[in-house]
Amino acid sequence: MAIIYDEKEQVFMLNTPNTTYAIAVTDETYLCHLYYGKKIQDSHIRYLLREDELPFVPSKNFREKNTFLDTFPMEYPETGMGDYRQSAFCVRDAEGHRASACIYKGYEIKAGKPKLPGMPATFAEEDVCSTLYLHCEDPVLGLRLCLMYSVFEDVDVITRSVRVENIGGNPVYLEKVLTACLDMADQSFEWVSLCGAWARERHIQRLPVGYGRQNVASFRGESSHQEQPFIALATKGAGEEEGEIYAMHFVYSGNFLAQVEKNAYGYVRMTMGIHPEGFTWKLEPGNEFTAPEVVMTYSCQGFGKMTRTFHELYRNHLIRSPYLHKARPVLINNWEATYFDFDEKKLLEIAREASELGIELFVLDDGWFGKRNSDNCSLGDWKVNREKIPSGIGKLSKEINALGMKFGIWVEPEMISPDSDLFRAHPDWAIQIPGREITQSRCQYVLDLSRDEIVDYIYEQIAEVLRNAEISYVKWDMNRQLTTIGSAALPADRQGELYHRYVLGVYRLQERLITEFPDLLLENCSGGGARFDPGMLYYSPQIWCSDDTDAVERLAIQEGTAMLYPLSCIGAHVSACPNHIVGRVTPFETRGQVAMAGTFGYELDVTKLSEEEKEQVKEQIQCYHMYQELIREGDYYRLLSSQQMQRADAWMVVDREKKKALIWCVTVLNAPNQDGFFLKLKGLDSEKIYRINEKEYQGDVLMNCGIRIKPATKDFVSRMFYAECI
Ligand code: GLA
Repeated sequence: MAIIYDEKEQVFMLNTPNTTYAIAVTDETYLCHLYYGKKIQDSHIRYLLREDELPFVPSKNFREKNTFLDTFPMEYPETGMGDYRQSAFCVRDAEGHRASACIYKGYEIKAGKPKLPGMPATFAEEDVCSTLYLHCEDPVLGLRLCLMYSVFEDVDVITRSVRVENIGGNPVYLEKVLTACLDMADQSFEWVSLCGAWARERHIQRLPVGYGRQNVASFRGESSHQEQPFIALATKGAGEEEGEIYAMHFVYSGNFLAQVEKNAYGYVRMTMGIHPEGFTWKLEPGNEFTAPEVVMTYSCQGFGKMTRTFHELYRNHLIRSPYLHKARPVLINNWEATYFDFDEKKLLEIAREASELGIELFVLDDGWFGKRNSDNCSLGDWKVNREKIPSGIGKLSKEINALGMKFGIWVEPEMISPDSDLFRAHPDWAIQIPGREITQSRCQYVLDLSRDEIVDYIYEQIAEVLRNAEISYVKWDMNRQLTTIGSAALPADRQGELYHRYVLGVYRLQERLITEFPDLLLENCSGGGARFDPGMLYYSPQIWCSDDTDAVERLAIQEGTAMLYPLSCIGAHVSACPNHIVGRVTPFETRGQVAMAGTFGYELDVTKLSEEEKEQVKEQIQCYHMYQELIREGDYYRLLSSQQMQRADAWMVVDREKKKALIWCVTVLNAPNQDGFFLKLKGLDSEKIYRINEKEYQGDVLMNCGIRIKPATKDFVSRMFYAECI
């Protein structure tokens, strides 16, 4: 049984294959966090609460309830009663007071996992997952809280969500509904997050946990380039294989808070949920609100195990696309080849050449609609620009199909240009505050997707394009963050709902799209990788990782991204040199090999390639076909990180049977007068014999002695090795 309740001890034990999470009820009232870590069998662990020590539990000490609340490890801390650490829940009542005290009322354990209304969430069959529902009530407010914990039996993951129900007679205002809280004694923790900016997303950051609050957060309306809704606490010295890691990841695409707080007594509290800034939700009597899902994992085998747990969870229990386990077509995208400057003739020239080289999917990027010849107009006017494409999208798609290629298209449905027919007809459809200038970003405004009629209208516009052409792939972009938050359709006391309602609108749109077009390969994108989060993975099996396609910059970006996401999710393409963003010149081979650690494609003008480069394209495509299953399904191991002062970046994937492995090693800057080195592999079978480049090695030799990496003769040299068990 994955969930056990020891009635005598009043302890809940939540067991995954290798971990236990335990909760206790104390004083018949409070839900306290007891334990999270390596799997334990016995539920006689109540002593961990030290209820007979100061600060005594309230039933033993009526005088000093405050200190108890401020010190005890709480499962779901509330506001206003004496716990001064970061609370998870804050509610304002109809009279304006902010306090709640939800008392434990009972529990249910059910097989399977509930869906979260209108939101992405992990899913599982009833035989591999069960859910604990902990019911609590605040009699003063007339509020019911349900804390939900789903426990997986095939992967070391517990997911959490929270449902709030107004069972009273008055409306209340939810000002904070975080999803998860984890209280623990400090173990000289360091915290790890993924930070960045446009064109340098998801760089790994590791810092000591000090007193006070440290967090990563977004209030940009999307998960953002700058932050990732992820946080991990690692014991000091934890590495790839060793040390304890507690990690949380948010299955959500909007504002978030991921925080660690160390208090005066050396306890740490880790919290995650929708960012309370800019959030209020009016809950009328009889209504419910559900918080998005947080995924939690614990690893006692370092970051490597944490990474593989996330990969497994997302592959088996989050991504729904029929493409999940299918070969992805090698694509060519015209963005960096032409930007807005193209016509039908140019597109067909690129497509013709690409098809001869073996490329399988042609993607028409931005600039095909309205009068869009730059980024300053036409978003919202989803009708083909006949000046550029006289025969229309339907005919163009057929012509591309006739070349033996599939056809895909770029859209940015969430936006509206000030210079568009749509904005001229419906100026109130843009998110805005009356009387205040709407901030432009990339010359565009954001559509108010909290409104059903706007979601319906936009859906129909996009669906019409898809219904009338042979389109097998859509790149769904989102090129700006939200500002001047206001909706013409929401009353004053509901404006604080707009950020979340916007995200729900995006989910509604994408759900409709994949329901009407179930065979579509959807790739999400947001000005590069600003909405690379588990929420979007529920709708699309791959996400464009970054607008930075430079092979060297991509090392850090892809390393950080792969810390949480399988390689099969990471959009990666070969582009032209000098690179359009950093001006760097890297070997064509290196660009190809780095892009192969992702969904693989090209983003350049193939008609301008030299004959030698064209031959390389053919070879790269052949190589990708040969290994794509291993790349897509294999277990991922980080070997070397150029971020951590090493000259090289290396990683590998190994198949489940440990019979095949693919290893990448990219040396960054070359250095004079240096020897080669030995790269130690991971995840192989010590007993098996592997063949690499005609030579045979035993698994334990490869893992303990390594493979030989000869000195580089120039900068940015990439090498790939294939190991196969004989
Ligand atoms: C964003 C995307 C790019 C490209 C442009 C088009 O920046 O990340 O790949 O599609 O928009 O405007």
